[in-house]
Amino acid sequence: MSELKTIKKKSHNTNLHKANRAKNDEFYTQLSDIEKELHHYKNHFKDKIIFCNCDDPQESHFWKYFQMNFEYLGIKKLIATHYETEKPSYKLEIIGDRNEDGRINMLDIITTPLKQNGDFRSPECIEILKEADIIVTNPPFSLFREYVAQLFEHEKKFVIIGSQNAITYKEFFKHIKENRVWLWYWFTGGAAHFINKYYEDYATAGNHKAWMIRVSWVTWFTNLDTKKRHEDLILYKTYLGNENEYPKYDNYDAINVNKTKDIPMDYSGAIWAPITFLDKYNPEQFEILWLDDHRLMYPEWRWRWPDIDGKSIYRRIIIRNKKL
Ligand SMILES: C[S@@+](CC[C@H](N)C(=O)[O-])C[C@H]1O[C@@H](n2cnc3c(N)ncnc32)[C@H](O)[C@@H]1O
Repeated sequence: MSELKTIKKKSHNTNLHKANRAKNDEFYTQLSDIEKELHHYKNHFKDKIIFCNCDDPQESHFWKYFQMNFEYLGIKKLIATHYETEKPSYKLEIIGDRNEDGRINMLDIITTPLKQNGDFRSPECIEILKEADIIVTNPPFSLFREYVAQLFEHEKKFVIIGSQNAITYKEFFKHIKENRVWLWYWFTGGAAHFINKYYEDYATAGNHKAWMIRVSWVTWFTNLDTKKRHEDLILYKTYLGNENEYPKYDNYDAINVNKTKDIPMDYSGAIWAPITFLDKYNPEQFEILWLDDHRLMYPEWRWRWPDIDGKSIYRRIIIRNKKL
């Protein structure tokens, strides 16, 4: 291929990549999905300052959810910042029934211009972050690592949506392993439909369906405690007598389990479970040892999944039953 063609191809790919990134960042969460998840945290929101820091308040159903449920949840203050790529933006706040008409609605919203563009990393937004108790949003997927790092840096409580791929990010997995973040409740391990606000699709979309997009492998991540997190996974199978159902890895001393529900109740050693195990993870019942540890231990396996009988299988999470 000529140099020119290579450059053209490269820039085409880069543009496509950029477009996909921008597109993924403009998927808006449906109110029904927000409701299904957030009602589990009802008690956490009482008397708290909630900040939605990646939320155009005109569009975001996160803002709508908290505005509608402001009194029901007993929220102290609701804040959302709108993001602009290149110009100053604004923030919205609700602190209560300002006009004393007996309900929280649009008339209670306080709009304040921002000097900066509403980027969650901007000093202005970081100041709001410091003031807030709980951060709730669906941040841009392309900035997820940075986004989460900032939440941890400021020791914030949060409920956020992210790709399940994030579990495999080294620094994020460490937080999961050390029980500083977990996955709950709704659409964990699955897919969800988002409202597609990407301007090109939006402009050409002729019907409502084209505005919805199915995104696989999305989940909720939080560090708010819930009852479900302390419930044991009911185990009913035994390793003893069924050894042939649990082959051992060629390159690691652990048994393989294909489905979380098949984790044996009597095996005290290392178990390679599917990543979807995290949906059912109770840190009092199981300990997370690592993710694809063999890659670190055996550099020659670095680019491969673990093997069973010489056959490669999808990556696993390594766990151990703490109660045995
Ligand atoms: C995946 S969308 C989700 C929007 C909304 N939270 C929801 O779930 O409906 C991510 C949002 O973050 C905004 N955004 C992109 N980059 C941002 C940044 N650096 N700081 C703050 N917001 C940003 C996007 O414009 C978009 O509105």
